[in-house]
Amino acid sequence: MVINDPKLIAAIAALGVEHKAGVSLAPKTSLEIGGTSDVLIIRKHESLPELIRLLKQSAVPHRFLGGGSNVLLPDGELPWVILQLSRQDPDVRFEGNNAFIDCAADLGRSVTTCAKHDLGGMEGLIGVPGSIGGALRMNAGAYGTQIGTFVREVQVYRAATGRIETLRGAEINFEYRHTSFALDDIMLSVRLELPSKPYSEILQGIRICNEKRRASQPLNQKSAGCIFKNPPGGSAGRMIDELGLKGHSVGDARVSDRHANFFINAGQASCADMLALIADVRRRVRDRYGVELEEEVIVWKAQ
Ligand code: EPU
Repeated sequence: MVINDPKLIAAIAALGVEHKAGVSLAPKTSLEIGGTSDVLIIRKHESLPELIRLLKQSAVPHRFLGGGSNVLLPDGELPWVILQLSRQDPDVRFEGNNAFIDCAADLGRSVTTCAKHDLGGMEGLIGVPGSIGGALRMNAGAYGTQIGTFVREVQVYRAATGRIETLRGAEINFEYRHTSFALDDIMLSVRLELPSKPYSEILQGIRICNEKRRASQPLNQKSAGCIFKNPPGGSAGRMIDELGLKGHSVGDARVSDRHANFFINAGQASCADMLALIADVRRRVRDRYGVELEEEVIVWKAQ
């Protein structure tokens, strides 16, 4: 989506929001798939309510993109302007056992920053790619740890009220790869309460998780992590593997040889290739197991 109304462009600039025209979005995602759009970089959280009011007033559709590690964007020109937060400095601040983290911060780096302050609990999340905001939205989890456990407060921009609000952790439902945040909520910052642990002990836990992940997941390839959620009591990866689908591909979209629930972009895969692969694998699993797999990756569909 292109913003070409000079008055709107001037009003956006007056808010201190940076307007980048015709940005290629693929490099902003871990799958490296996606077309182009104008991107608005938000430097101050406080400018969000007015920015979104302006976009609505001008009937400019918009979507918020976080770390890009769990999302499949459409090909071609996207029908939305993209909003992104710029990183705050410093992006983690400490008070006792509380870590106040900017939602644009990298999840993995935040885990290690907290570790250096002898605050642990998040070791399992170390190799999960993406931002703190994305981790909150999806209740990112691995190796028995889910970020929701530690959340005490979240600051969000709520599209429903047009305001920045602070939610208490107890008000938010954190389930398996699902939360009660509204789709158009934008996470801004979070307060996590973490257990005290010596750095050396946390480091040991981090090493173990890293080794497990390296042994079972294709870490150096372009992917969005697991493509499907695990069905209750089952394993999407095991079912796809049992169907002999490792290496199965549509164009350059391919089922990883290492972990069958990771679909990789092996070259120049398009969104259409990836969606066709997802549909094909889902159909085969349905035919064989009678299980309807649900996507774990967030697919941006034009309505
Ligand atoms: N398996 C196979 N073949 C495969 C992959 C897995 O037989 O190709 C088997 C494994 O041997 C194991 C079982 O399936 O017995 C489960 O596999 P794994 O331990 O790799 O875990 P997973 O259930 O596939 C989940 C999360 C991962 C997370 C790991 C570690 C989901 C959809 N996936 O994977 O999260 O990293 O556990 O905790 O919940 C993600 O969310 O994107 C993600 C990758």
